[in-house]
Amino acid sequence: KRIVILISGRGSNMEAIHRACAEEGWPAAVVAVISNRPTAGGLAWAAERGIATASIDHRAHADRAAFDAALAAEIDAHQPDLVVLAGFMRILTPGFVARYAGRLLNIHPSLLPSFGGLHTHERALQTGCKVAGATVHFVTAELDHGPIVLQAVVPVLAGDTAETLSARVLVCEHQIYPRAVRWFVEDQLLLGDDGVVRHTLNA
Ligand code: GRF
Repeated sequence: KRIVILISGRGSNMEAIHRACAEEGWPAAVVAVISNRPTAGGLAWAAERGIATASIDHRAHADRAAFDAALAAEIDAHQPDLVVLAGFMRILTPGFVARYAGRLLNIHPSLLPSFGGLHTHERALQTGCKVAGATVHFVTAELDHGPIVLQAVVPVLAGDTAETLSARVLVCEHQIYPRAVRWFVEDQLLLGDDGVVRHTLNA
């Protein structure tokens, strides 16, 4: 199976997925890492490991649809079985999402459906949440609200700041994202036409 990963920054989730793929011997490979930001740190990390990289600078495109079309062309050049959004900070158009329906995953640093959007840890703390976490989900046209694949919960501790909470959540992200991607590349996970996630583990 061919995995293409989209990033916008350091790409710590990309690293976790790539490492698990190699160490656990998945029937898959990360064939390309693509970013909307030419300066994304994860691009250098991927290039050093011989992974194809590209950056589609969203500022170089007239509008969202034009950017998404250029992004899709680059993605398709690598013939992916799965497209993984890992710290990818762009909202994708419905046309783009439809093109990759059922083979487009995202990780979001909250327990969806709570706290979709940005600044999730600050908002969880402000709300007085006692637990927080991360969610891996299939991407649909509705931002941060696609069918959920996996979630991880962490405690909110006294004195937590957005930084301490995000660091605790990030550790879990690096556990659940590789697990979800592994399920997909091992054909144990699929998104039904009815929008329901199915695992052959409990088919
Ligand atoms: C993480 O909190 C992730 O949940 C969010 O972007 C942040 C950075 O991810 N999507 P990464 O380190 O670039 O993978």
